[in-house]
Amino acid sequence: MRSMGLIGSIGYIWLVMAISAVAQPDSSRTPVLDSAGRPLERGVEYYINPAITDHGGRFTLIDRNGSCPLYVGQENVSGLEGLPVVFTPFYEEESVIREASDFRVAFSATTKCVQSTAWLVGETDPDTGKILIVTGESQSGLSVGNYFRLSKGGVGYNVYEISWCPTDVCPTCRWTDCGTAGGLVENGKRLLALGASVLPVMFERIY
Ligand SMILES: *[C@@H]1O[C@H](CO)[C@@H](O)[C@H](O)[C@H]1NC(C)=O
Ligand SMILES: *[C@@H]1O[C@H](CO)[C@@H](O)[C@H](O)[C@H]1NC(C)=O
Repeated sequence: MRSMGLIGSIGYIWLVMAISAVAQPDSSRTPVLDSAGRPLERGVEYYINPAITDHGGRFTLIDRNGSCPLYVGQENVSGLEGLPVVFTPFYEEESVIREASDFRVAFSATTKCVQSTAWLVGETDPDTGKILIVTGESQSGLSVGNYFRLSKGGVGYNVYEISWCPTDVCPTCRWTDCGTAGGLVENGKRLLALGASVLPVMFERIY
């Protein structure tokens, strides 16, 4: 009995160490910066703007065909209102968004659709084969469909690319369909989709 108890407690310590080894935020990752050069913060409202001209306007909710859910997309041209978003890092103790780190992102808006405004990986568009970004809550156990990440864009100051590849949420998962988000024009409406030609973006803080 005594030796079994010992094995049991060693097993327990090992388990705790294994969990804390994967569940710690990595503060060596570089914070993502807004257009004024300040770290992107949890719970603060930002507009997302394309970093290149002639690629639509601010990010907003798109009514694709008169029904719910609403899709993540852009205003047709720059200068229009758009809707702010709020970021929530995967790690609870984290107060800023860091590069290559999972977060949830939701539009700060109420809509006619009685559902979450969180971004969610949606269905594959049959015409283009690209994966649309919709709004709603993931039905999977770890909510992997609701976690996105940012990486530094190839060119420009404080310019980033949005991608889906939830590695903090599920370190043991091996995704085959990770992708970077770009603009997809459908019936004159600008939708956001994984696999479409990459749309570099910037974050404009709302005071
Ligand atoms: C709207 O689009 C969705 C997704 O493509 C489709 O399931 C739904 O039937 C469409 N609804 C209408 C009213 O066209
Ligand atoms: C962009 O233009 C299309 C076509 O005129 C329109 O259906 C759509 O609602 C517009 N998008 C936004 C976000 O206003």
